[in-house]
Amino acid sequence: MQYQTNTLEHHWMPFTANRDFKAEPRLVVHGKGINYTDHNGNKVIDGASGLFCCAAGHGRQEIADAVAKQLMEIDYSPHFQIGSPPSFELARRVAALTPDDINHVFFTNSGSESIDTALKIAMAYHSARGQGHRTKFVSRERAYHGVNIGGTSLSGLMKNREIFGSVMPGVVHMRHTWSPDARFTRGQPEQGADLADDLERFAQLLGGQNIAACFVEPIAGSTGCLVPPKGYLERLRDICDTYGILLVFDEVICGFGR
Ligand SMILES: Cc1ncc(COP(=O)(O)O)c(C=O)c1O
Repeated sequence: MQYQTNTLEHHWMPFTANRDFKAEPRLVVHGKGINYTDHNGNKVIDGASGLFCCAAGHGRQEIADAVAKQLMEIDYSPHFQIGSPPSFELARRVAALTPDDINHVFFTNSGSESIDTALKIAMAYHSARGQGHRTKFVSRERAYHGVNIGGTSLSGLMKNREIFGSVMPGVVHMRHTWSPDARFTRGQPEQGADLADDLERFAQLLGGQNIAACFVEPIAGSTGCLVPPKGYLERLRDICDTYGILLVFDEVICGFGR
């Protein structure tokens, strides 16, 4: 099948050089198991599982059947002041998988929405406890937290934030944990836990009582897989506990077996 520039023009694609793509499109028209088929009929291995979200494989009959069955039972119901049983059942199952004291699930439509929601939950939590003065957020260089305003402000990837970075005030960035010495390390690097002390320095500089939350990807994804140094996350946990700062793990890429 032929796809010409003018048939592709109306879709404005994110994170894509649109003119180049449309001059020489790479389109997938079919997916089965670990394979895509492109519009020229070539089979390609989908080594990234879509955008990491098709880990169960493409074109699975049992998934298609379950979706079709649910669509015919109840396709949608609002979830303001009214509910539908499957979302409660899903929340129960997710809570059974998460660690003991994480038992409440707030559903969102994307990772970006999750991050901006987590920012708002952190603000609302402190406000409800009479600590609305906690307005600062700590993130990290090289972080990716999605495309919305909050996530863009937390972002530590220069290209993603250079023209939007100042939108949300009060965000500071710790140093990233990449180090040339750790390049060929299997698992967690031995060195680098002390980088977590950047959070302590921000607590000293800004007042720990003014910091609402610290956001990190436990294993950074979009910047290239950065496994945390041994003791690094534990150190962040300790500093957060000392100052009453919420520690938010963004596991959009690395959670649930992705
Ligand atoms: C760590 C992290 N946070 C947030 C997001 C944003 O997720 P989404 O693309 O679903 O908005 C991503 C996406 O890759 C991510 O890797």
